[in-house]
Amino acid sequence: MAVDMELEAVLRPPEAPQAPYPPKVITLANGKRLVVREARREEVPTLLEAVHPTLFIHKDYYDIVGARLYAELLGWYTHRTQNEFCLVGQIEGLLVGMVNSRMYNAKTGMSLHTLAIDRGLRVGAHLFAAKMEHHIEYLGQDEVLIVAESPIGFRRWMIEYGLEPTDIPHELGGAPSYRLTRELYFKSKPRLVVGDRPVPQELLDEALREIVVADEDAIREKIAGLKGR
Ligand SMILES: CC(C)(COP(=O)(O)OP(=O)(O)OC[C@H]1O[C@@H](n2cnc3c(N)ncnc32)[C@H](O)[C@@H]1OP(=O)(O)O)[C@@H](O)C(=O)NCCC(=O)NCCS
Repeated sequence: MAVDMELEAVLRPPEAPQAPYPPKVITLANGKRLVVREARREEVPTLLEAVHPTLFIHKDYYDIVGARLYAELLGWYTHRTQNEFCLVGQIEGLLVGMVNSRMYNAKTGMSLHTLAIDRGLRVGAHLFAAKMEHHIEYLGQDEVLIVAESPIGFRRWMIEYGLEPTDIPHELGGAPSYRLTRELYFKSKPRLVVGDRPVPQELLDEALREIVVADEDAIREKIAGLKGR
């Protein structure tokens, strides 16, 4: 389909320049090395393959989170979302989780979603921490607005970080946002934000070469212990 670039220029929201997220490596409790890096826009179709099966996992709110994340990533890919970024977690190239977010404005970040595919290793917690690190330390923002769609998310973000409740409606359905301030981030950092830089070159090359996506059944089984439909 030919793209009318003149019309596209009107449809595409203006984008602010965003500092890159420097990749890091985290050694997980099982000894595996998790590379956390920024996804490239052209990698979105691969990410969508991993998100798609979660739309049908009616457990731990994977369905609603997956459906929203799918739409947001597609929005980024098609230039229909403003100032979005996505960080991925990979073990030996395999995608084990992802987070996305956007700059609401220069000062405020709007946290979107966190999805863990490999479970029981705090992959989601580490990726969420990386997302906060990006907003505060690399994008230089003052605060991040956050909501939780699931009880596990609520435990991981609101309780573990002691987030401040506010009455600011969040983009995700208008629920009142919780806030991570710079101060709260740096207070939580020694406890929650981990990882080493630089990532050894061969590990980084492996992660950048390809995002490997497990097949649908493997994803369903990893997430919810389900086999088949
Ligand atoms: C929220 C989320 C990102 C947290 O990821 P995480 O930090 O890697 O944590 P896990 O999901 O692996 O584990 C959460 C808990 O469930 C338990 N758990 C592990 N494997 C599990 C499985 N296959 N099924 C159910 N529970 C499992 C863990 O033991 C853990 O318990 P703990 O809180 O006492 O440590 C992840 O649960 C997720 O993607 N959930 C669905 C989407 C979602 O809710 N996103 C956040 C929206 S606010």
